[in-house]
Amino acid sequence: MMLEELESIGKSKSGAILSKSCTLEPRSGNPEPRYSALPFGSINSMGIPNLGYKKYAEFSPKLKQFGKPYIVSVSGMTFEDNVTIVKELSAISEIDFLELNLSCPNLIGKPQVGYDFEQSKILLEKVFSVCKKPLGIKLPPYFDFIHFEQMATVLNQSPLAFVTCINSLGNGLAIDIESETALIKPKGGFGGIGGKYVKPTALANVRKFYELLNKNISIIGVGGIKNGSDVFEFLLCGSTAVQIGTTLVEEGVQCFERIENELRGVMERKGYSSVEDVIGKLKIKK
Ligand code: DHB
Repeated sequence: MMLEELESIGKSKSGAILSKSCTLEPRSGNPEPRYSALPFGSINSMGIPNLGYKKYAEFSPKLKQFGKPYIVSVSGMTFEDNVTIVKELSAISEIDFLELNLSCPNLIGKPQVGYDFEQSKILLEKVFSVCKKPLGIKLPPYFDFIHFEQMATVLNQSPLAFVTCINSLGNGLAIDIESETALIKPKGGFGGIGGKYVKPTALANVRKFYELLNKNISIIGVGGIKNGSDVFEFLLCGSTAVQIGTTLVEEGVQCFERIENELRGVMERKGYSSVEDVIGKLKIKK
């Protein structure tokens, strides 16, 4: 992610600046086309194109001028890379939080750590032994109750600041029927699915982790948020903040102001004056 993109988020109405994931060394990412909009979302297999973690440290004094939290997402290619990057970035005073990505679905030949509970536990223990800042993690979507429980047990043993649910739904396939060709080039056309397709899964992951995690771990919701009522749903499930992915790519940074205004409208119509009164208050039919 370039400095200009992060600065444009700084100037927008977003509540924070969150970089896309970085690695130890710069990467150009997977071959293009590697992102495609779909009727109700997106598919991508970007392959973590980024400038290398040192650049995101260098950018930090400039980005702090916008007066909002600056969060760097870390997605090392190896266990050791993650430890090195977290150690170094956590020493930079203008970086407020780190988000360790346990769930990039687009690395060729590499599984997601977030589906290996034992490995996730070992990585978190090591990372927290070197980290001097509040750190959260980004998780892949889970689908089975037992997997939510196994991951929550691991996470409740860590001093996590937050958990972000969910990363894209890994390895979907989207096709253009005229040319009979997959829409994106990497990985035989397979890529992470975002947008409306994933919203029910994202809400369910937020809800389950809200139920299972220690209350001092905040939950950040992401997946298919396009308008203010989507955010309201994520709040009901237990998110205290949200991230915007596909909608930001498709609409640009003005989406933050629009969505915030829409959320205000939903809250007013329903008679709420504070998000605190909404967070986690989902009702279940009796
Ligand atoms: C990429 C994809 C992800 O889902 C993610 O969390 C980070 C990076 C990528 O392919 O670049």
